Amino acid sequence: MTTLAIHNARIIDPELNLDGIVDIVLVDGHIARVGPNEAEMVIDAERIDATGLVVSAGFVDLHCHLREPGFEYKETIATGTAAAARGGFTTVCAMPNTSPPMDSQASIESLLRQIEQSAHVRVLPIGCITVGRQGNELAPAGELVDSGVVALSDDGDAVADAALMQAALSYSSLFNLPVSQHAEDPSLVSDGQMHEGWVSTRLGLRGRPSSAEEIFVARDIALAELTGGHLHIAHVSTAGSVSLIAAAKARGVNVTAEVTPHHLTLTHELVAFGDSYKEIDYNASAKVNPPLRVDSDLKALGIGIRDGIIDAIATDHAPHSLSDKEIEFDLAAPGISMLETAFSLAMTRVHDETFPLGTLIRSLTSAPVRAWDLDKRTGLPGLGTLSPGAPADLVIFDPDMEWTVETNDFLSKGKNTPLAGRVLKGKVLVTISGGEIVYTDSIVAGRLRLGDRSEGI
Ligand code: DOR
Repeated sequence: MTTLAIHNARIIDPELNLDGIVDIVLVDGHIARVGPNEAEMVIDAERIDATGLVVSAGFVDLHCHLREPGFEYKETIATGTAAAARGGFTTVCAMPNTSPPMDSQASIESLLRQIEQSAHVRVLPIGCITVGRQGNELAPAGELVDSGVVALSDDGDAVADAALMQAALSYSSLFNLPVSQHAEDPSLVSDGQMHEGWVSTRLGLRGRPSSAEEIFVARDIALAELTGGHLHIAHVSTAGSVSLIAAAKARGVNVTAEVTPHHLTLTHELVAFGDSYKEIDYNASAKVNPPLRVDSDLKALGIGIRDGIIDAIATDHAPHSLSDKEIEFDLAAPGISMLETAFSLAMTRVHDETFPLGTLIRSLTSAPVRAWDLDKRTGLPGLGTLSPGAPADLVIFDPDMEWTVETNDFLSKGKNTPLAGRVLKGKVLVTISGGEIVYTDSIVAGRLRLGDRSEGI
């Protein structure tokens, strides 16, 4: 029996209505007890003194790209999940835009074997909506469900054909499976490089207008209403989408949504100016689809999280190699390597008081689990919470520690981030997955462990 006892943490679990300084005891990969002085009662345990630190359930990411199979030069399951652990994520859902794409039982089974061999945290596969992600015919949803996918998505591309999307949502209703849509109308964004606005005009780049997203969000909500299928809007980026989702939820439509830390905090100016306004740049590290928008969108997205209109914060971790990014802007691949900065970047909106820390934790833990019924799909009751019996997936963090983003320290192969050199406030220090410590920050390595109970830190 392996026991890990965490002393004196501020434990926050919005689901359990818990925010207080208590102990938590993990036994054999599960949460055993949470409460005052619980750690003192156990014998023969490995101990961590978390005085001054916060403990929450491990983060759950509904949207990341691990690139394996097919693009191992960008990321692998091993490196992507090491990055996840460094970012505090203990469960990640992997998008199917791999090579081959995840559109058959055989591809999912082989992915699951690879996950079994090399993942550092739990990886849940997402299957394709359409065969080869080509947008022409549906992938075999029943077969994919049987192989263990937790959702369907053609992320990277929208399902453009309305009749096909309607059929996908009908299957969603039949199989009780979320369909995660990358909502951007291709006819409005083809060749688009960034948000359509004054910066795109200034740089002479073709834009991707907000309306391209909102048209598909509105259309797909109508289709979800028609079919009863579960529509999930991936990486919501505009104020208009937030309004559409709020209205749909108020009508009882089966719709959920996620926002990324970058869409919550960064604007299109970053593409032209980086962090300074000194000179004009074409900063491809800020190129992402959907694109970074404007202040009024950030405000609406923050309110969306605060009010629960947007269910989850998801990373859209999109690692790319140097050669994918450090080329002409038009040719550069879209995407940001996000797993290792997601929590700290999202903390910006806690520090500016857009929403409280408990709300951030909810949107990174229990809310994504509930949005996609991940506890039921995985057969892991309590996933995303610290309830006794739940998997011992935890993160220990300092909400106020400042640190500088150094891409050389990234465990992800993707060093593509517009945050390099930026100081962020809030840092993940330890991540525990299934009762095993899978990440310890070098800042605290050797300091938090209490070998002999008489030692302090
Ligand atoms: O910027 C993006 N990159 N957006 C997506 O939807 C896909 C992703 C990728 O796979 O690189």
